[in-house]
Amino acid sequence: MFLNLIIKFYSDFKLDLIQLQEVMKMSLRFSEEEFSRLKELLFSYEWALRTMMTKLDIIREAFKLSQDTSPIGYIACRVKTPESIAGKLHKQNYGLTAVNAKKYLKDIAGIRIICPYARDIYFLAGLIREMPDAIILSEKDYVTKPKPSGYRSYHIIMEIPIYHSSKTETVPIEIQIRTEAMNFWATLEHQAKYKYKEHIPQHLSDELIVCADKIAELDNRMFLIYETISIINNEG
Ligand code: GTP
Ligand code: MG
Repeated sequence: MFLNLIIKFYSDFKLDLIQLQEVMKMSLRFSEEEFSRLKELLFSYEWALRTMMTKLDIIREAFKLSQDTSPIGYIACRVKTPESIAGKLHKQNYGLTAVNAKKYLKDIAGIRIICPYARDIYFLAGLIREMPDAIILSEKDYVTKPKPSGYRSYHIIMEIPIYHSSKTETVPIEIQIRTEAMNFWATLEHQAKYKYKEHIPQHLSDELIVCADKIAELDNRMFLIYETISIINNEG
């Protein structure tokens, strides 16, 4: 009897939690009108990403053609989902409108470039800076100045124009440039943040900082080996 009561209480409580989560999700939705505006906006973001990806693919392939190696290892991209846009706007206390999404969120279109070596990061940032049509809005060098968490990466927020038949839309894109090792670290740390809802236990965050430093050292040592090989190859 007592057990039944506990089970009933538990299942009622669980139902309440699920209902609460549903209500939260519902309240974090764009209105129908704003959603159709957002869809139109995301169309431009999608094409901005494709345009930028093509530019970067050309750079990568051109390097391979001329010198067998490229400062670009691989590239990944994504457009934020409407749910994620709504969540971020809500977190920053902005109303759920397409205008706010465009105005306040600069990472709706995101590109991540993985470079073989840390030095390639700066070389690539230079190439991106020189791209015709591109306007650089901001740059953050978390490679030279890592975040306290140990996070290393180079961030560029830029804008490129997308020509529609009747108008030109300027679209912001966030580019993150990092090495494979930095990416390995950032992915694991992101998982830890997700698992502990942003509050990673101290012993784990300490360990992550140690790993981040070791990774930076590893990146340097691997580059020195590469440089030695390159010199030998050029002499031979
Ligand atoms: P948001 O973090 O997106 O709100 O933007 P911001 O203005 O704080 O910019 P920032 O340059 O700090 O971060 C932009 C993006 O970089 C994030 O969305 C993450 O993808 C990544 N990033 C920044 N800091 C960290 C970090 O400490 N760990 C991990 N794993 N990723 C990070
Ligand atoms: Mg941040």
